[in-house]
This record gives sequence, C-alpha cells and structure tokens, in this order.
Amino acid sequence: MLTKRPRGTNDFLPEDTAKWQYLENMLRGICRQFGYAELRTPIFEETALFLRGVGDTTDIVQKEMYTFEDAGGRSLTLRPENTASAVRAYVENKLFAGQQPVRLFYMGPMFRYERPQAGRFRQFHQFGVECFGAASPAADAEVIALAWEFYRRLGLQGLEMNLNSVGCPNCRPAYRQALQDFLRPHLAELCPTCQERFEKNPLRILDCKNPQCQQFLQGAPTTLDALCDDCREHFAAVQDYLQAAAIPYRLNTKLVRGLDYYTNTAFEILLSDIGAQSAVCGGGRYNGLVEELGGKPAPGVGFALGMERVFSALNAQEIELPAAPGIDVFVAVLDKQAQTQAFQLACELRSQGLAVGYDTLERSLKAQLKYADSQKVAYVLLVGGDELTRGSVALRDMQSSEQIELPLPEVGAVLTARLLK
Ligand code: HAM
Repeated sequence: MLTKRPRGTNDFLPEDTAKWQYLENMLRGICRQFGYAELRTPIFEETALFLRGVGDTTDIVQKEMYTFEDAGGRSLTLRPENTASAVRAYVENKLFAGQQPVRLFYMGPMFRYERPQAGRFRQFHQFGVECFGAASPAADAEVIALAWEFYRRLGLQGLEMNLNSVGCPNCRPAYRQALQDFLRPHLAELCPTCQERFEKNPLRILDCKNPQCQQFLQGAPTTLDALCDDCREHFAAVQDYLQAAAIPYRLNTKLVRGLDYYTNTAFEILLSDIGAQSAVCGGGRYNGLVEELGGKPAPGVGFALGMERVFSALNAQEIELPAAPGIDVFVAVLDKQAQTQAFQLACELRSQGLAVGYDTLERSLKAQLKYADSQKVAYVLLVGGDELTRGSVALRDMQSSEQIELPLPEVGAVLTARLLK
C-alpha cells in the first residue's frame, strides 16, 4: 500500500520551492536592511518551554502540541511557534549581555495539531522576527514596518493592519475584572469555550467567533479604555510612528492574540481574499516573557507570518513570482565514445561557474536536443565525431541555430563571455 504524507502537511515540488526561495531571499534582504540577523533553534524543545512560554490556557498548549517522549524519557514537543524558543536562546546564550537591542529573524516549519483546512496546516512555515531589549514604541513600529515592507514589495492589495493594546500587568487585572463583571449576567449563555475561559482567560472571549457571544460583547469595556498612563502613552507613540511611516492601520479593540505572552501592542494583518484563515501575520510586544522563562527581565516585540498564506494571497491576486534561472548550457553527446569526455567537460564548465545540463540517459542526439529545447537552453555543446578528434567541440546557439567549432580549452571562456552579454 502507498504511504501518503501525514494529514495537514505538504510536499513542495521544485516549481514550488523555487518560489519559496525567491520569497525567502526577499525576506533575508529586508532583514538585512532592518538589521535583523538569522537565528536557528531546534525544531523540538523541552515541552515545559511551551507550557510556560505560550501559556497553559491557550489552544496551542491545550490541544495542538505534538508532544512525545524520547528514548531517554524526556518530554519533547515539536515547536508550535518560535517566540518561546527565541527567548530561550536569548537567555541561554546570554545575548542579553551584549549590545542591545538584539534583532533576530527566523524561518522554518512549525507544528500544530489543528483541523486542516484552506490556509491551515499541521506543518506550516513561519517567517518571524523578534527584537529583544528595546522597550521603546519605536521597536514596535519597527517590526510592524518590517512586515509591512514585505507585503508592499510583493504588491499585495487589500491588506488590513489591525492594531490593539492589551495592556500590562498593572492595568490588565482591573480590565479583566471589568470584563468579567460586564459578562457575568450572561455567563450561562456564553458558548462552552467562553464559559471555560471566563475565569482563566476572559480576554480571549473578545475574539470568540460565536455570534451569540459577540452579541453579549456589545458595549463591553475595551482594553483601550482601561490602559494605565504608561500603556496609553506607549500605544499613542506606536501609532505616531506608524503614521509617520505611512502604514495604514485600524484600531480593533477585539484583537487579543491566541498566545498568552502579549503585553501592550498586539497586531494582526488580515487579508480577506484567502478565506476564513485570513491572518497572514500576527505579533506584538511581550515584556514579561524573558523573565517568565528564567531570564533577567527584558522587553521583547516581534511577529510571525505564515508563508503558506502568503502564497495563497499571491495566487488569489494572480501575482507571479519570477521563475528560477535555468541551465546555461547543455552538453550533448554525439556518440558513445565521447561520453566520458563530455562528462569531463560538463564538470569542468561547472567548476568555472556555469550551470550545465548533461544527458545521463544515453539518449539519441535528437532526443537530447529536444530535451535541451524543452529546458529553454540558450546554448548546446555537441561533443564527439570529427571535432572531438581535432580536440574541439561544436557550440550551437539554439536561437539562431548558428554553430561554431571551439577548441576544448576555450569553451568555458567563450560561453562565459556570451552569457554575460
Ligand atoms: P500566531 O498568530 O500563532 O503567532 O502565528 C503567526 C502566523 O502564522 C499566523 O498569522 C498565520 O499566518 C500563521 N499560522 C499560524 N498557524 C497556522 C497554521 N496552522 N497553518 C498555516 N499558517 C499558520 C505566533 O506564532 C507568534 N509566535 C508570533 C509572534 C512572534 N509574536 C511575537 N513574536
């Protein structure tokens, strides 16, 4: 029986991976411009990291983690996100002791046991950034600007930046209380999930999708009403920076993120073109997380964006990415005796920096040329026959069909010069 790939995962074939690499390179370029350097952390971590980092009342921790015991009896979890790992790496590698802020980016697979649907997978890929050690609202605006620059460069239309502040440990308890007081008369009528969240994490009720819960939320106090002076000032400054950078946003007081670590700024970029899973990017500030994970207190802010959702958005808006460059030259073999020399020539040309195709199927010359044509190769080298006895090969320009004879030692230089033209 044929084994299939696990539910909620994807195979990316060469025509896809060429596009992935294009986007990844674009993101690397943007990170270089913003001064963010790459961090690579393990795909799995000790389970405790996510329990403490992501928060034990979240869906991620309660039902979505791929947790397993290794042969040594340790509980490990495939990373459902990368912020907790980035914080761990910041603390464990003492990055707090060097120049601050520490600006990091990452990309790679994340794992969540979710119900697969369009735009939602069990293995998906995030690009994200984390900025540690900067409490200033300029850092919030910087990471938002970085995300926005990516979408701007891709030319995506209709993106909606949603912005909120979820306050800090000083002002949040009073808000929690106010929200609970407001909802308490309707507690029995809320959906079972919201009833469960009422005590443990009432803010998450704000973004419940259930229409009845939404009805009971009408007129509810917002986090913005309850911000302390520091949080209010911080949030106003973030908005000033965004306005200065001409980044459009909309205040969304229902925006509370699905992870527990946020303080102050929370944001999400939505795109309705791609269906129900419309969040292409989410992030915010998390000033308590470094300490929560055992470090000396240090502020942090960042975001992650879902790569698969970026591709859905590009498809929905029919934005084509440039195709990957093909091979420069195809080495065709005229007769069996020439095979070893043709192979040697292909290797030499590659060591001179050219991208070279070569036939490993021992096909007829006609079939080789047909193949070369299908690869849209500009030049073919014909190796064998009388030319090879004279120590040369024929170079054919596939467009003009012009053919010239070249001594073997000159092939590389002539081709390089022609390809540069
Ligand atoms: P998140 O909102 O859970 O945040 O995920 C960020 C993005 O990853 C989402 O907006 C979405 O585009 C994508 N994503 C999430 N789950 C899936 C899935 N099952 N399938 C496909 N795409 C998905 C975080 O992960 C935080 N660590 C972001 C952050 C970084 N906050 C501060 N720093």
